[in-house]
Amino acid sequence: MKNFFSIITLLLLIHCTKQENISLRKFEIEKVEFTYPSDWKLTETEGIDSYFSYLSKDGDTIYIEFGMYNPKIYKSPLQDNLFRQVTIDGTESIIEIPKTKYGNFASIYIPTIDSAGGFYMFNKNGNIEDFLRIYQTLKLNKSRRKKPLIIDLKEFKNKNAPPGIVFYEHNCLDCHSEYHYEIGPALDRKFIRSKGRLWFEKYLYSIKQPKEIPISCTQIDEKDSLMVKEMIHYLF
Ligand code: HEC
Repeated sequence: MKNFFSIITLLLLIHCTKQENISLRKFEIEKVEFTYPSDWKLTETEGIDSYFSYLSKDGDTIYIEFGMYNPKIYKSPLQDNLFRQVTIDGTESIIEIPKTKYGNFASIYIPTIDSAGGFYMFNKNGNIEDFLRIYQTLKLNKSRRKKPLIIDLKEFKNKNAPPGIVFYEHNCLDCHSEYHYEIGPALDRKFIRSKGRLWFEKYLYSIKQPKEIPISCTQIDEKDSLMVKEMIHYLF
């Protein structure tokens, strides 16, 4: 019995010293920063036009990508996860989490921070609460915000009624590119801004008559106005 208690005491001691040794480290790449506990190990690599690194701990890995590549990750089929659009220091982002809390993937995607491109961070497996705690410390554009981001798990939406950015990449970029004319005109910033918010919103709800080609632009149902608002927030 005595032995048993000494082992427990020993374990507790090891555990406590281990806890005390964990401090917070700051990660910074251009306009993005966050803090992470020091028991995660950071490995950095640098590509030609993008940055790539990862944090690892106990078999879980968090991948971090930043740069011009702008992958438009929601153009591809959506996984059966939950999504939420969150504004971080004035910039729109998407958090994606699985329907179960453990052993699964969770990500944060910021398609456009500035002309330098976007940011994408996702973990491979493990406890998504650990991951979200790190994500909550994200700050953009040298923000001095002290408070962590609020992530309300109740407000996440499934892939059938996704938030604006997810809907936009998934449904609009089939026919439009942001760079050149495809089936429809290029949805670049200059073109979008030249239309104005009000016109743009009205256009999305309107019935379209095909002109030269037998394909016409999507009409969005007015009941999806929240999604449209999020999309416009992002595009403008
Ligand atoms: C099935 C293909 C298709 C999809 C999907 C699509 N569009 Fe279009 N879009 C077009 C075509 C074709 C045009 C050219 C005008 C027309 O014939 O309707 C167009 C035109 C536009 C225009 C310019 C209208 C003008 O009068 O200058 C905007 C803005 C636009 N689309 C935005 C969007 C957005 C935002 C989405 C996603 C919700 C979207 N489109 C999805 C095919 C598409």
